[in-house]
Amino acid sequence: CGIVCVLGNESVAMPLVDALRRLEYRGYDSAGIATLEGGAIVRRRAEGKLVNLEAKLGQAPLKGTSGIGHTRWATHGRPTEDNAHPHATERVAVVHNGIIENFRELRDELSADGADFQSETDSEVIAHFVTRELERGLSPIEAVQACLTRIRGAFSLGFLFAGEDDLIIGARLGPPLAVGYGNGAMFLGSDAIALGPLTNTFAYLEDGDSVVITRSTATIYDSEFNQVERPIQKAEISAAIVEKGNYRHFMAKEIHEQPEVISHTLASLVDMTSETVRLPSLPFDWKNLSRLTISACGTASFAGQVAKYWFERYARLPVEVDIASEFRYREAPLEKGGLSLFVSQSGETADTMAALRYCQENGQHTLAVVNVPTSTMSREADAMVRTLAGPEIGVASTKAFTCQLAVLACLAIGAGKARGTLTPEAEKELVRALIEAPRLMAEALRLDHEIEACARDLSKAKDVLYLGRGTSFPLALEGALKLKEISYIHAEGYAAGELKHGPIALIDESMPVVVIAPFDAIFEKTVSNMQEVAARGGRIILITDEEGAKAAALPGAKTIVMPAMPSVVSPLVYSVPIQLLAYHTAVLIGADVDQPRNLAKSVTVE
Ligand code: G6P
Repeated sequence: CGIVCVLGNESVAMPLVDALRRLEYRGYDSAGIATLEGGAIVRRRAEGKLVNLEAKLGQAPLKGTSGIGHTRWATHGRPTEDNAHPHATERVAVVHNGIIENFRELRDELSADGADFQSETDSEVIAHFVTRELERGLSPIEAVQACLTRIRGAFSLGFLFAGEDDLIIGARLGPPLAVGYGNGAMFLGSDAIALGPLTNTFAYLEDGDSVVITRSTATIYDSEFNQVERPIQKAEISAAIVEKGNYRHFMAKEIHEQPEVISHTLASLVDMTSETVRLPSLPFDWKNLSRLTISACGTASFAGQVAKYWFERYARLPVEVDIASEFRYREAPLEKGGLSLFVSQSGETADTMAALRYCQENGQHTLAVVNVPTSTMSREADAMVRTLAGPEIGVASTKAFTCQLAVLACLAIGAGKARGTLTPEAEKELVRALIEAPRLMAEALRLDHEIEACARDLSKAKDVLYLGRGTSFPLALEGALKLKEISYIHAEGYAAGELKHGPIALIDESMPVVVIAPFDAIFEKTVSNMQEVAARGGRIILITDEEGAKAAALPGAKTIVMPAMPSVVSPLVYSVPIQLLAYHTAVLIGADVDQPRNLAKSVTVE
């Protein structure tokens, strides 16, 4: 979910909606705002996307100059209007991002005290709790602090009080909250981008902080409710919401931006003239490491899986990759002084954050590969390397993924160099190959029409299998994830060698099998697996290069012929056909490509 709060000088309804549009990546199944009219709380809420809320506001405008807003990704309670935020009583309205774990206990207690609950959400307990404390005579900040000491879970919160036109209170534990300083105006938002058109001056609350804002002041308290200062920073954020340009969808635009953003990302980490990697100074020595632990979620975890092959091959460094939601509770034993790496587009994913904190508590050096430089992960990790993908709007990650791969490849090469497992010549060769990635990706993008033709096949399927070996295995997983996410077609990614241990039972004439197989050292092995599919009538879409197409010689297979390339860049370049395949399939089906059902781009709850 995303939250925004504004104390302004004109009607806040439109600035709130505008800010919510920038926060829609955090969820979009319902939205709402609350403001004060004649001191009384008034709300407009709507099920579904933000346009529905806008339509409501068109019919019944709001004039108040202070207000709070929310865009929701449902946790407790279906995405209906009743469950939409803000939740309110006559005295207070609240917007909440996160989960209140002890809400049942609080709900029972507050109901016994006479509270009348209107929704199925966990968040509504906060409104009733604060109301009860206000009725007991506490001031707004005392009432909020009383609530903060009772609720358990994860939250960022914004409160608006009846009769208090120059007051909003915020708090965070887990999900982020930024304070925006305006000219005679003050703001709170889930991220700085939401507040981009309103201000460029921000302070970030730390975990456990609360903040009281008026139009001219922002007073921050720590978790013990002592007044504290948090650094105020300038952030240059473009006021214009990122545009689709000539593309039909953000996802298409972001796929096509890849040659450019990969080139920026690589330029920040390699020296093009000497063909060497140039990593920022890092607070640990690669030479002293005996193991690397990588944690991430979703697409970012597949980037981590590709990186495992690279770190092990080029730096001879054993790697363990785990999805963060498993890693965080596994109580993994970690050798003191080891390195833990976290990969995240948003830098806010709750499970990845928790994994990072676990590693810090267990004496690890922490390094984050992050796309949003102002994010919590960027601030909390010992060191950060940025992916320069720029804002990614489409929920299905594309350019952020390939930029993660570019950064991870450079890190692995840098590690190899430092550990003496890569000769200077080998480093040069790898860097030279990486520098070619943008050009090769541009060539792959020219296969758009052929890929669209293959997508016709997929769009009629109920299930699709993706196969790959080596670094193409995590790509198979990513390909299957992309397809599920945006076209709702069931897909599975498998290591090609595992086919015979189970999934082969699924194969018949109705099952397309996408095989990702650049012509490399293990190509022959993948071809054998493909023969096993062909022998059982499976319909193959083979993504390979010219040599591969010749060597496979599979009659009946549809082949997407990629340019030839050194194996280190194939995960980056082969991502392009995989993304386009999912994209065109979803478009053919008529699915909502940029905002697929049930998903959110940034998941700040467990
Ligand atoms: C969500 C998004 C995925 C993303 C994952 C991890 O599920 O829909 O596209 O891969 O979160 O997000 P992060 O921001 O940590 O990369």
